Amino acid sequence: MDVTRIALDPRFAIGAVSPLLYGGFLEHLGRSIYEGVYDPESAHADEDGFRTDVVEALRELAMTVVRYPGGNFASGYRWRDGVGDRASRPTVRELAWQSIETNQFGTDEFIRLCRKLDWTPMLAVNLGTGSPEEARDWVEYCNAPTGTLFADMRAAGGSEAPHAVPLWCLGNEMDGPWQLGHVPAREYALRARQAARMMKSCDRGIETVACGSSGPGMPTWLDWDRTVLEELDSAADYVSLHRYVGNADGDSPSYLAIGRSIDQQIEAVNACCRYVQARRNSRHRAFLCFDEWNVWYRTRGSSHIDGAGRFAPHLLEERYNLEDALVVAAFLMSFLRHADSVKVANLAQLVNVIGPLLTDGDALLKQSIFYAFKLFSDRKGGTALSAQIDGPRYQSKYGEVSYLDAAATLEGNSLHLFAVNRHTEEPMPLVVELGGSEILRVDTSEIVHALSLDAENTFEAPDIVVARPFEGWSTVDQAHVELPPHSLVATTFQLA
Ligand code: AHR
Repeated sequence: MDVTRIALDPRFAIGAVSPLLYGGFLEHLGRSIYEGVYDPESAHADEDGFRTDVVEALRELAMTVVRYPGGNFASGYRWRDGVGDRASRPTVRELAWQSIETNQFGTDEFIRLCRKLDWTPMLAVNLGTGSPEEARDWVEYCNAPTGTLFADMRAAGGSEAPHAVPLWCLGNEMDGPWQLGHVPAREYALRARQAARMMKSCDRGIETVACGSSGPGMPTWLDWDRTVLEELDSAADYVSLHRYVGNADGDSPSYLAIGRSIDQQIEAVNACCRYVQARRNSRHRAFLCFDEWNVWYRTRGSSHIDGAGRFAPHLLEERYNLEDALVVAAFLMSFLRHADSVKVANLAQLVNVIGPLLTDGDALLKQSIFYAFKLFSDRKGGTALSAQIDGPRYQSKYGEVSYLDAAATLEGNSLHLFAVNRHTEEPMPLVVELGGSEILRVDTSEIVHALSLDAENTFEAPDIVVARPFEGWSTVDQAHVELPPHSLVATTFQLA
């Protein structure tokens, strides 16, 4: 392949990278909670019933914010079922995933997990079957000082100090006909506005996320977002984006080009926000909250999404390979390229359900996507830089793209460069051209790579697709490297 050049300059910034881009999502779904993070019967359980092996692996991912309790689950959830004395909590039939919910894990358990892992909690209220008033009551339960009904209920459960939850989603995927309580955009918007006002009058410090479209394939895509933004105006601090992708037709070059489509999705929703703001001549700008994203396509059939009345059924247990890890990197690079508009993002999900982690009895597996996420999360912070790429390109079903997919951030004197060679067979000679500064040396560099795109980790062979130290750089004059085919390389350079 001919040489690819990437031009960067610390003076050409896109915007500060929000620490909340490195988020996750934990839903009452399948074995995500029970047999996932929470399993008092496990040999690994700690005094709170959390699995220490899972907790330690999640600690490595250093996520900053985690969304809970759903997802589709949120649209039928009664939060009061999941608080108070565990022995008195009801076991209920839940409709989103047709499963049995024991409510042994609820708000206080989630907050305890957040404290253990230094996560900012983000809660999704029920605007499907629930009311604005119930949403407000949950804010009081979590955030109010003691002295009133719901705050005192929290204190009686052992948490005198408020949980201080700063981020609240106004429902989940309400544009989707599959959603409990799905209604047309305007009806949702009125419901969400009432809820947001009541929630914010209970705690003026909270930020709210309005449901945007569930994805660019929705028939009401963008019309839904515009209507919701117009009705909510300053009652919504963010609008949500969701995206699940896959390689169902086995076209890996196109699959690896998905970043272009994610860029377009972000740019379209941001344009919608700016349109509404300008049309209303408003000072209020809604930012983007990409609160569900991942690879999910193998486990979409009914046997994978219907719990058939069971407790902790095996649902959405996607197995990930190398190309999925490169696509996870594509999402994260797209968020960095749009650091001026995307302020929160949540990998969906954490464990067992479309997760970077899988449990089997007491065993734990880190999937390929675990390592891709970690390379980014280890380099969070700073400012995203504009990058100009000049080099060989190819046609994909998302349009023409460069073989190099990349993003760069600057944190003090450290330049972080994320680079994926999307060529499935050829190595890529790459030159980093830096203006306005000089590269002194490579501090750290790691690679996620394997012999084939379909390589994956298994419980028997867990180290097939992992992050390994990468020593291919030369920094004489400019930084040069040869990126192996279908690889992700994350590098931190020390600048002069
Ligand atoms: O993450 C799995 C599901 O995908 C979520 O519950 C829902 O919001 C989305 O459709």
